[in-house]
Parts: sequence; C-alpha cells; structure tokens
Amino acid sequence: MSLYVIILAAGLGKRMRSTLPKVLHGLAGRPLLQHVIDTAHQLEPKQIWVVHGHTPLQPHLPQANVHWVHQTQALGTGHAVQQAVAAMPLQAKDQVLVLYGDVPLIQASTLHALQATVKAGAQLAVLTARVTQPKGFGRIVRDPHGALVAIVEEVDASDSERQIDEINSGLMIFQADVLQALLPQLHCDNAQGEYYLTDVIHLAKQQGLSLATYTCPDSSEIQGINDRSQLAQAERYYQRRVAEALLHHGVSLADPARIDVRGSLTVESDSFIDVNCVFEGEVRVGARVRIGAHCCVKDAVIGDDVILHPHSLIEGAHVHARASIGPFARLRPGTCIAEEAHIGNFVELKNTQFGVGSKASHLAYLGDALIGSHVNIGAGVITCNYDGVNKHTTRIEDEAFIGADSQLVAPVVIGQGATIGSGSTITKEVPAHQLTLSRAKQVTVAGWQRPSKKNKAKK
Ligand code: UD1
Ligand code: MG
Repeated sequence: MSLYVIILAAGLGKRMRSTLPKVLHGLAGRPLLQHVIDTAHQLEPKQIWVVHGHTPLQPHLPQANVHWVHQTQALGTGHAVQQAVAAMPLQAKDQVLVLYGDVPLIQASTLHALQATVKAGAQLAVLTARVTQPKGFGRIVRDPHGALVAIVEEVDASDSERQIDEINSGLMIFQADVLQALLPQLHCDNAQGEYYLTDVIHLAKQQGLSLATYTCPDSSEIQGINDRSQLAQAERYYQRRVAEALLHHGVSLADPARIDVRGSLTVESDSFIDVNCVFEGEVRVGARVRIGAHCCVKDAVIGDDVILHPHSLIEGAHVHARASIGPFARLRPGTCIAEEAHIGNFVELKNTQFGVGSKASHLAYLGDALIGSHVNIGAGVITCNYDGVNKHTTRIEDEAFIGADSQLVAPVVIGQGATIGSGSTITKEVPAHQLTLSRAKQVTVAGWQRPSKKNKAKK
C-alpha cells in the first residue's frame, strides 16, 4: 500500500485579476502551490501529481519533485482528478489523497488524521469543517445517525441544505480501486455543467461503500484563496502561526502581529525580536540575541548574544557571537563578522571578513576586504575595491588604525599595527607599526581677505 497525492491547480483564478496563475502567487515568500507540495512531501507519498491548466507551472517550480498533468479544459474537480488517475501507476489498495493548490495552509498533521480514517477501514474520507459563513462551499449532508450521505454544492443546494454549517474542504482521500471505479460514473448534469468530484459521495453511498469524515479542528487551515483579500488574510494567519511557534520555543516578540517570516527561521531561546522585522530565506539566530525594530535579515546566521540595532539589513552574512551591528548597518553577501566586533551606523560591508573585536563605528564602505582583529576603522573610510572593470582586495592586518575619511585603493595591504592619518588616500602597501599619511600640508595665507560682492545695489 502506497500513498499518492493529486494536487488540483488547473482553475483559472480569475478573481485574482492577475496575469500570474493564482497558485503561483506568494504566501510568506513561497508560491501557494509550493506550500501544498511541501506539505504533501511531509506525508512521504510515493508520487505527487499536479494537475495544471493551460499555463504550464513547471518552469516556475523546477525543484518541485512532482509529476505534472495537463487538464486541457477545466471541466470540474472530478474531471481534473480523472486526468491524473489515468496517468498514475496505481495498485488497488493504494491510497489517493486529493489536495487543492489554492488551499495552502493545510497542515500535515490534519492530513495524517484524514489518512487514519482510511487506515481504520474507510474506503473514502472527506475533510470537513464547521464554519460560521458556509456560503460558497459544498455542504456536508448527513443522515439522522450522523453518517455522511452526500455533498451538495451551494448552487445545487435546497434552502434547508444551505443552512448546514459543515462544509466540504474539497480535500479527500480514497482507496485507489474505489476512486478508479467511481470516476467513470460521474456526470455533468448540474447547475455548473461540471464533473464534480463531490458526486462520488452519493455514488459510494448507493454502492454501500464505507465512508468517513474528519472534521478539521481549525477551519482556517482549509481556507481557499480566491482573491487578493483572502490571500492577505491567509498571510496574516500564516505569520501568526509562525509567531506563536517562536513564542512557544522561548523567543520573545514585542508584538506577535508584527513579524514576517518568508522562509525558515530558527531562533534559540531567550532571544528578543522587536516590531516589524522581516526574515527571508534561511535564517538561524542564536540564543540571547536582541534584534531591534525594522531589521531585515535574509539567508544569514546570527550567533549567540549578538545585538542587531534597529533598521539593519543583513543578507548572506554570518555574524558571530557578541558582535553588535547597526543601527542602519548593511551587511551584504559574503560578509563574516567575527566575535565581539562592532559595526555602527551607516556602515556597509560586502564580501568582507571583519576580525575579532574590530570596529567600524560610523559611515564606512568595506568591500572585498580581509580585516584582522582589533582594527579600528574611522568614520568615512572607504575601500576603493572597484577599478571600473575588476574588483580588488584590501587587506588590513591586526590592530591597524585607519584614520577617518581615508580611502584605501585596492589592491592594497595595511600592515599590522599601522596607523593611517585621517584624510589619506592610500595606494601603496603600508608598513606595520608606523604612521602613514598622504595629505597636502596645511597652509595659512597671511593677510588674505574674503572677496566682497561686486556692484552692490546702492541705497
Ligand atoms: C470545491 C468543491 C466544494 C468545496 C470547495 C472548497 C467540487 C465540485 N466542489 O468547489 O464542495 O466546498 O471546493 O473550496 O469539488 N480545479 C481544477 N480543474 C477544474 C476545476 C477545478 O484543477 O476543472 C481545481 C481548482 O484550481 C481548485 C480546486 O480544483 O484548486 C477547486 O476548484 P474550485 O473551482 O475552486 O471549486 P469550488 O467551486 O470552490
Ligand atoms: Mg474554490
């Protein structure tokens, strides 16, 4: 017995008012469909099949590790499942789980619970939910004993059926031979002229098959996305879930409603994240880290006891323990900040190794540089790493002191313990332990007078 997953994603998604197919719109930085695929992979199925419409989705999700099937005409959910099943190498006792590409918040734990009903003997099971506003959904019709009888679409429902507050999520699981037997029996004689997957329920009931339901405890999980308003709501729901998980793991958040995680964020305990921080890609944060308001951190590793002051941007960088960054600092890809280093305001680093205990406290650009330990970089220091064609390296050895407003024209080496006088333009190797400066001598012109304005209007 193997599990197969079918993900339906051929709908037009007109209500998004977009040229991009609906399932490619982003939720927390990942396409909606990618969320569903990732959740499906957590169930460790034998294969995942995605049914797409006239726009191929594969080029947008090259790493998805799924099989693609083209539904040439959107003739309904039943028809879409037929297209996939016809192509799948199913065995009679396999399980087939049907998911929707536009229902991205579904959790693997809920799907496990649905799967358990089949393992317990059901041949077909439906994931349902109780909601306060069932309008637009298929309703779950039960007999007086509570057994599932049918699913009735809103447009085909009677007034009394419309009162039912238990809805069909659309997500179902089948024993493979049951699904294969039922699909050819579907008809399109309904209000929408479509082949409804939901019609398998009353067919199965007529044929005495054993049906089950699992009611999702949190109806937000089965929320479908049809328009941008629902997408924004789903985003907030997702972010709230991430925030709650962080709180649960011992991370303090100034406001759980004001953090956005678009990727994977792991944070060790006793760290604190202030309001409006955005994390993208893969970010790992150590213990007792303080992240100030309005920081953006992408694909980065932040060590224990680091302080990120507000408004810092960090991308593709590694910040080691006890370093302090910002406010208003920018660490660009390839940057590594060693322990106890200090990067202050309006300092930008790119592809730079910054040594233990070194400081660049204000207004500097350090690119393609190898900077030793306990170096002091004055305000306004710039590594001139680019000659218009190629990038060159600046090497600054331990304990050097670079005076304010100096330009280091790469390639260049600053020796250990060297001091550079402020305002210097350094183009040649600087010897260790000496003062080097390149600066025009200061002169004072005796008796010089400020010019006065010519043709001053006479009164
Ligand atoms: C469907 C269910 C309804 C349920 C609701 C939950 C049917 C007949 N109805 O209705 O009971 O309450 O979902 O949201 O199943 N799709 C295809 N090919 C098609 C048609 C649809 O791939 O030809 C895909 C869509 O992209 C979407 C999913 O199937 O991901 C559901 O289709 P949609 O048209 O939204 O169905 P609903 O009318 O909402
Ligand atoms: Mg729908």
